Amino acid sequence: MSYTPIFHPKVDKLLHGADYNPDQWLHMPEVIDEDFRLMKLARCSIMSVGIFAWAALEPREGEFHFEWLDRIMDRLAENGLYACLATPTGARPRWLAVDYPETNRVGADRVRLLPGMRHNHNYSSPVMIEKAKSINTKLAERYGGHPALLLWHISNEYGGEDHSVDSQQAFRAWLRERYRDDLDALNRAWWSAFWSRTYQDWSQIESPAPHGETAVHGLVLDWKRFVTHQTIEFMRHEFEPLRRIAPNVPLTTNFMETYAGLDYFRFADVLDVASWDAYPQWHTPYPMRPDPDAGDGQAATLDDYERAAHFSFFHDLVRSVKHGRPFMLMESTPSATNWQPYAALKRPGMHRLSCINAVAHGADTIQYFQWRKSRGAFEKFHGAVVDHAGHENTRVFGDVSDVGTVLERIGEVAGSRVPANVAVVFDWENRWAIDEAKGPRNDGRTAYVETVIDHYRAFWKLGIPTDVIDETRPLDAYTIVVAPMVYMLRPGFAERVEKFVAAGGVFVTTYWSGIVDESDLCFLGGFPGPLRSVLGIRSEEIDAPAPGETRRCRYLDGNPLGLSGSFSALELCDVVHTESATALATYESDFYAGHPAATVNRLGDGFAYYLAARSGNRALSQWYGALVAAHPVRRALDAPLPAGVAAAVRENGEHTFLFVQNFRSTASEVELPHGSGGFELIDGKHVDGSIELAPYGVMVIRLD
Ligand code: GAL
Repeated sequence: MSYTPIFHPKVDKLLHGADYNPDQWLHMPEVIDEDFRLMKLARCSIMSVGIFAWAALEPREGEFHFEWLDRIMDRLAENGLYACLATPTGARPRWLAVDYPETNRVGADRVRLLPGMRHNHNYSSPVMIEKAKSINTKLAERYGGHPALLLWHISNEYGGEDHSVDSQQAFRAWLRERYRDDLDALNRAWWSAFWSRTYQDWSQIESPAPHGETAVHGLVLDWKRFVTHQTIEFMRHEFEPLRRIAPNVPLTTNFMETYAGLDYFRFADVLDVASWDAYPQWHTPYPMRPDPDAGDGQAATLDDYERAAHFSFFHDLVRSVKHGRPFMLMESTPSATNWQPYAALKRPGMHRLSCINAVAHGADTIQYFQWRKSRGAFEKFHGAVVDHAGHENTRVFGDVSDVGTVLERIGEVAGSRVPANVAVVFDWENRWAIDEAKGPRNDGRTAYVETVIDHYRAFWKLGIPTDVIDETRPLDAYTIVVAPMVYMLRPGFAERVEKFVAAGGVFVTTYWSGIVDESDLCFLGGFPGPLRSVLGIRSEEIDAPAPGETRRCRYLDGNPLGLSGSFSALELCDVVHTESATALATYESDFYAGHPAATVNRLGDGFAYYLAARSGNRALSQWYGALVAAHPVRRALDAPLPAGVAAAVRENGEHTFLFVQNFRSTASEVELPHGSGGFELIDGKHVDGSIELAPYGVMVIRLD
């Protein structure tokens, strides 16, 4: 079948490469010569250049030096490598920060930063915007038609916020538009009569500050929305010359997991390709969140298998931002980082496994930070393809070139999609609102992100392809939609859930849902607000047991999911009454014994389930096991997976590619169901029946 160019028209293979900073080595041209020899050996096909090169490109204001980059771009092209060419705003040259102090950010404490570090420019500063546009215009003019150029890498890891006078003005202007110049509407939305916080004039509005306002939750929420808006606006300024001068060159910017400061879903329409930077800390067992089921077949520490679930979630999230299109793994470390608490080295096999896990979830590129270790400064000990030793005879270089070879062997996967008919809802605005609210737990244990990942993990362990969407996305393409802790119902979400269920969809939500509207104002008339009719329940109170305390719950005999036995609830226990719903489980302890702990409501052709309390991971796995038995969905593999083994699937209309991954340090065996053998692309041989996975082994099978 001919390849459909989903990722980029020029590319019909998986790409491999790294952040490349020749600007640090211009005084040692022999090093750069060596780089090009080594890139070939490492089977690289794409290099990200110029990310922090502003000082080399414009060492003094208005004085441009492009000769070195000309040479690099030419050499990339001569060597058959693509360039992912960055705009250099991730770090400003010193002259810009010193001569134009207004480009330095002001913190929430209203203190302006001194020149230094990176990722800290003021997005509202007219000078900053002008200087960024100027250098980007030059880059577009010079390289927009260069044969090496594949795409633009806009800045680097946008993040943080600015509280300067410029930004205060921009915030007020944004609010005036949002509230249509109606200050009363803003005061009502923010419930500012509370503590006499009413605004009499737009000019009184200030961004949240530790020594100022933080109690008006509507303000805090709108400020966070504004920061996303302002970041995207700055980004638009950055890419205006690129789009104008080189309209056919796609662009991306690199995300960071579930970074709290930006709503990445809002970037969907401005980016051509989604990309992100993944730094899993393999082999470092951190304690997991408290789990009453731990020790009961559940990991108490974040082992490699559990960590893989987290990173698979992040991959799925980034893929879903661009509606399922393949994404770029823009950065990952070839060995260890220099900023995590412990720089554990990747065990043999783990580098390949970690990279292929990204591909399994939709990555079409595997790229690293960094190509070569810098000799000095902040990241000199960060893992790199080329170590200070400077040659290819290292374990890490071997691992990297092995991945290069593997990506070539599995290249036909490029452009294929992940066929998900389950979606887990992860919503940044909801997260901000939950995190900002006082109560019902103030020890951080509402833990929205972890809760969403707990629900996701249950599907991941079953090898069920899953999208991660926010509340604004359509639901109709899915069979099952899981929305843990949808505290804030964004406009239209409840209505869409109701339609989805009525049309035969399966919806699952939990405690602490349907509490506030998009202004963070509580629904009147009973929780879960607009979700009440679809769920058929009424929530009266929510209990927050102290750390270590649990409540017993038991499944009711003959419940339609066929679940039996008991489970523990902790942290948040909603006390609900059924209206049209049926109880599946009830609490057995405390004064709310007998109240439902899990319910189902039939509506039209569908089902709406409610989990009233947080449970442990074993209980969640049982729950979702029963749920998908009752409501079948697509699975990567119709076979039980041994603990530690994950399965994922991509398909391109002609072929289905099965990824079987062993996240354990011991070998594992997986029984492929009868008739589902295929051609294993890495080793190039036919497999069926029982397959043996090496420690940290991975197979990519084109199913027959
Ligand atoms: C990323 C950043 C890179 C590099 C890397 C180190 O967050 O984009 O420039 O600093 O971390 O792990």
